[in-house]
Amino acid sequence: MHHKTADAPKTAGRVIHGGIHGAHWYDLFVRVTSFGRDRAIREKLIELASPAPGDKVLDVGCGTGTLAIAIKPQVGTGEVHGIDASPEMIQVAKEKSAKDGSDIDFRVALIEAIPFPDASFDLVTSSLMLHHLPDNLKAKGFLEIRRVLKPGGRFMVMDFAAHSHSRLGHHLPSILGHSRGESMVDKLTPMLRDAGFSDVEGILTRHKNFAFIRARQGVSKTLRTTREKGDAHG
Ligand SMILES: C[S@@+](CC[C@H](N)C(=O)[O-])C[C@H]1O[C@@H](n2cnc3c(N)ncnc32)[C@H](O)[C@@H]1O
Repeated sequence: MHHKTADAPKTAGRVIHGGIHGAHWYDLFVRVTSFGRDRAIREKLIELASPAPGDKVLDVGCGTGTLAIAIKPQVGTGEVHGIDASPEMIQVAKEKSAKDGSDIDFRVALIEAIPFPDASFDLVTSSLMLHHLPDNLKAKGFLEIRRVLKPGGRFMVMDFAAHSHSRLGHHLPSILGHSRGESMVDKLTPMLRDAGFSDVEGILTRHKNFAFIRARQGVSKTLRTTREKGDAHG
């Protein structure tokens, strides 16, 4: 499932291609590798993220759009947007939301260059996505997410509990029912703090093989100083 297509934007992240058929098979692939827990872990993510009526939400690396479609009813007249590097995944997401009658904006775009203005969103979500990115790209992505969040906005992450560097490695722990490798919570929490997020917390759930991390948009010291200087000058 890892081939490039002509109109996919360039990224160092692992992008899921394999044509429209590959993207259609993706949902089944996740069902199998999560041992059928995909629905439960996404529901837990939504519960912890607590989207509210009127919220504006962005799902980064949205894949085939399952999470964004599940969030839409919770925000009522609010907006849900989903971005993914893979045109095939976005195509399937659009088909699924049209079938569901959900009004969601799905677009091909990268986490490292999020196509929205500063302070656009109340909530950004990321599901089973960050393990696809090398660390320097995660760090860039976090800065972008902080930029597009409104002050005090929430970032909710769900991913495999253990980070493995082998290709199949990140799926094997969940297939085998246990976690091996570097802890995702231990790895991501300092990175999120470095990116200027506050209230960063790893949340323990009954889904032991999955990491849930919640953070808030916090204005970093450097940015605050720059803003204060800017205010002082004018
Ligand atoms: C394992 S899938 C997760 C999809 C979905 N969030 C889910 O929970 O099923 C990871 C997704 O990240 C996307 N991706 C990889 N690099 C990316 C980047 N730089 N920006 C945005 N999406 C990216 C891939 O194309 C893929 O659809």
